Amino acid sequence: MIDPQRSFQGGFGSLITYLALIGSFIVSFSPVDAVAVPPARNETGVSAYLFDLGQVQLTDSRWLANQNRTLTYIKWVDVERLLYVFRSSHKVSTNGALSNGGWDDPTFPFRSHVQGHFLTAWAQCWAVLQDTTCRDRATYFVAELAKCQANNAKAGFAAGYLSGFPESDFTLLETGKLTNGNVPYYVIHKTMAGLMDVWRYIGDANAKAVLLSLAGWVNQRTAKLGTSQMQSVMNTEFGGMSDVLTEIYYWTGDSQWLTAAQRFDHAAVFNPLASNLDQLNGLHANTQVPKWIGAAREYKQTGTSRYLDIARNAWDITTNHHSYAIGGNSQAEHFRAPDVIAGYLTRDTAEGCNTYNMLKLTRELWATNPSANYFDFYERALLNHLLGQQNPSDSHGHITYFTPLNSGATRGVGPAWGGGTWSTDYGSFWCCQGTGVETNTKLMDSIYGYDSSSLYVNLFTPSKLTWSQRGVTITQTTAFPVGDTTTLTIGGSGTWAVKIRIPSWTSGAKISVNNQQQSITTTPGSYATVSRTWQSGDTVTVTLPMRLRLVTANDNKSLAAVAYGPTVLSGNYGSTAPSKTPTLMLSSLKRTSGSNLDFTGTADGATVTLSPFYDAQGYKYVVYWSVSGSLPPAAAELS
Ligand SMILES: *[C@@H]1O[C@H](CO)[C@@H](O)[C@H](O)[C@H]1NC(C)=O
Ligand SMILES: *[C@@H]1O[C@H](CO)[C@@H](O)[C@H](O)[C@H]1NC(C)=O
Ligand SMILES: *[C@@H]1O[C@H](CO)[C@@H](O)[C@H](O)[C@H]1NC(C)=O
Repeated sequence: MIDPQRSFQGGFGSLITYLALIGSFIVSFSPVDAVAVPPARNETGVSAYLFDLGQVQLTDSRWLANQNRTLTYIKWVDVERLLYVFRSSHKVSTNGALSNGGWDDPTFPFRSHVQGHFLTAWAQCWAVLQDTTCRDRATYFVAELAKCQANNAKAGFAAGYLSGFPESDFTLLETGKLTNGNVPYYVIHKTMAGLMDVWRYIGDANAKAVLLSLAGWVNQRTAKLGTSQMQSVMNTEFGGMSDVLTEIYYWTGDSQWLTAAQRFDHAAVFNPLASNLDQLNGLHANTQVPKWIGAAREYKQTGTSRYLDIARNAWDITTNHHSYAIGGNSQAEHFRAPDVIAGYLTRDTAEGCNTYNMLKLTRELWATNPSANYFDFYERALLNHLLGQQNPSDSHGHITYFTPLNSGATRGVGPAWGGGTWSTDYGSFWCCQGTGVETNTKLMDSIYGYDSSSLYVNLFTPSKLTWSQRGVTITQTTAFPVGDTTTLTIGGSGTWAVKIRIPSWTSGAKISVNNQQQSITTTPGSYATVSRTWQSGDTVTVTLPMRLRLVTANDNKSLAAVAYGPTVLSGNYGSTAPSKTPTLMLSSLKRTSGSNLDFTGTADGATVTLSPFYDAQGYKYVVYWSVSGSLPPAAAELS
């Protein structure tokens, strides 16, 4: 039906059309989108773009292995069970299906939140791989949701409502009487975001109809509330309501959705951020990040710079003052006082969802200002937090909710009320399980970007880019981060610049074209530019020297994580947790092999092995050490 690679197949005539369009890149969206449905509006303030899903494929690597496990799960999970709470709430037959446990249990207050994540994951799986099982699951699920929504009169709900819990929870929310722990708009957002993705990636008309009908219900419901009542509704977690409503405006061009989106601007959170004040201490972290993503999107649709200030300040404050070495933030799901890192190294640090959302925010901001520091953070958080959040020994790729950073922790820590372990097939359905199936079906989404004259190489991940807008392919081959070199091979020809991110952790980076070293400025924390007329088969080889470095806790300089290049290392303590934070003699650190990232060192007088934290699975680890002495000189690292 839809050709997501409908790109460069129209012969020479469309090449001319295409070249004519290039000039308008900066002010318009890409003329050749891999999405099934293009947006109706342009964006303001955007100067660079990330490629659409489907233009970038992962090739064999640790990243692809993660994707494979999640695909196995989302293509296996029983959709009838996932439909249960929607059908029972809307008084439609549950077809004898079993109900789920955990956060999708028929008695759980915010049941039906996870299904939107599955819709997004199936839609992404289709967009990336043209996998028909994923497409058919998504469109079947949406058709069944349409039947639920169509039965609203019989179920006693207003037109458009769609949820696994009763509409009366919104009356309780609006009147300040909601006491059952529900977060009803959080759930509505997840459903809307999933429908949005099935519509735009698969082109499913049902998804658009169900989405606009549900959005209409939100609009009517919130239009009736006065400003102060609406602000108090927002004291309860409400997910990315402003984000998804602004997206609907972007995609349809109908301004009622922007009006509805702006009702979800949370003044208590936006006002201090607009003045660059850090008042995050004590706030539930994952409740806030989606509001900032909403602000970034509202900026792009209104041009109001205050929205951009809010989003940028929030990003700066969070990444610089509230994030651990692995890029994650929050302790017990909450932001703590600025720079208190050592003070909160507990078993419930770094909730997965927060980083999923921070990466989304990073992408939004990069597009407004394609600066390399955004991808320094993206790399840090994706590699050191989210890649290892998935259990590699589980064929369904289950996840840890928290990534604990106390000495002697292990991964596989869920909320205590969820059994405190890895997610399961049908018994957990936490928020992080939902964001996990999304993350692991879009691991390629930010590797490359482009603007009117350049290709951006943001991340060093084995992959293939189909730059259909220019009729070329780029193949990236690398053992990164185990190796420090990546090679880009160009298929096709043309004149453009390649901008390669030179990470802030390197120094002395080198770039060769067809094995000839180029005299190009490679300043850490910026993009290095290689401009030329490319021929098919040209190669660009980038070497980013790595060395050991410390990531010290902002609140205690004698406590630090050890990283090698981008990769945070952790100590392997087997089955015995150390009784206190071990003291690592920094001068003792030695890499034991050139073909992996294993190191040894002396901690508390004993030898310990350190290896990439993303692979610290199934044993007790230490990430933050009490450090003594100084790191060995670079040349002495490999024993
Ligand atoms: C988007 O930008 C292009 C190029 O400037 C313009 O032709 C088009 O009319 C704009 N579309 C909208 C909906 O503003
Ligand atoms: C992922 O799955 C694909 C398709 O089954 C397979 O070709 C590939 O080798 C797998 N790669 C990894 C790293 O698991
Ligand atoms: C900083 O960390 C070191 C090493 O764990 C510890 O001995 C010291 O007490 C800490 N300092 C403060 C002020 O907490």
